Amino acid sequence: MNDAPDVNAVHFNVDDKNIMVSAGQTIYEALQRMPGIGEIPALCYNPAIRPYGACRLCTVEVSEDRGKSFRFVASCLYPAKEGQIVKTNTEKIRKLRKGIIELLLARCPDVRVIQELAKEYGVEKPRFSLGGHDCILCGLCVRACQEIIGKSAISLVNRGIYKEVAAPFYAYELGEECIGCGDCSYVCPTGAIIMGSNGKPVLPRVKIPYAEVGAMTSKEKLSTSQK
Ligand code: SF4
Ligand code: FES
Repeated sequence: MNDAPDVNAVHFNVDDKNIMVSAGQTIYEALQRMPGIGEIPALCYNPAIRPYGACRLCTVEVSEDRGKSFRFVASCLYPAKEGQIVKTNTEKIRKLRKGIIELLLARCPDVRVIQELAKEYGVEKPRFSLGGHDCILCGLCVRACQEIIGKSAISLVNRGIYKEVAAPFYAYELGEECIGCGDCSYVCPTGAIIMGSNGKPVLPRVKIPYAEVGAMTSKEKLSTSQK
């Protein structure tokens, strides 16, 4: 009989169940559709695109010292390992996810997938001002364009509240680099990108009025120059 350990398999404990999965998967991949394990929310995960860890909704607790200590990891990025203990739905995790969902709901109050998550996690009314966006800035569209199509027709530009999806040179109309494949629209978890009548995607627009952006930018410039 061969007693050598099976390097193609990972044995770990998830929510008090001993589980065996094939090696080389992230925790999220390993647990998808696993009987007896509840669904882990994951807005920026797509099996065809390299995980990036933008939304953090898939956070789980992991122990690699036989349960002495646990830490939070993004399950779409973190590998399933031999002997791990994983908790997918503790009070701490639900609290963390609830906080993220509250922020997402404040940003995108009309997006159905976020409304559904809010209902599931008991988020009623965000404490922050409502944004009216439909893009959660997960970057899936940008990565689909690069990784699946091999193009860079769109990218995430700017930082903080000005961050948005845009075409090169900040154009909202996509140019020749876009082949009109529709992949960006297909992978978008919120439906923020629709295909236009010209066969090219219509990108989500930042909802901060540009006059306001201009005023804020010049205020920032002023305060920097006064330092
Ligand atoms: S448009 Fe959609 S896929 Fe692209 S960053 Fe926004 S939410 Fe994500
Ligand atoms: S699905 Fe893992 S960080 Fe978004």
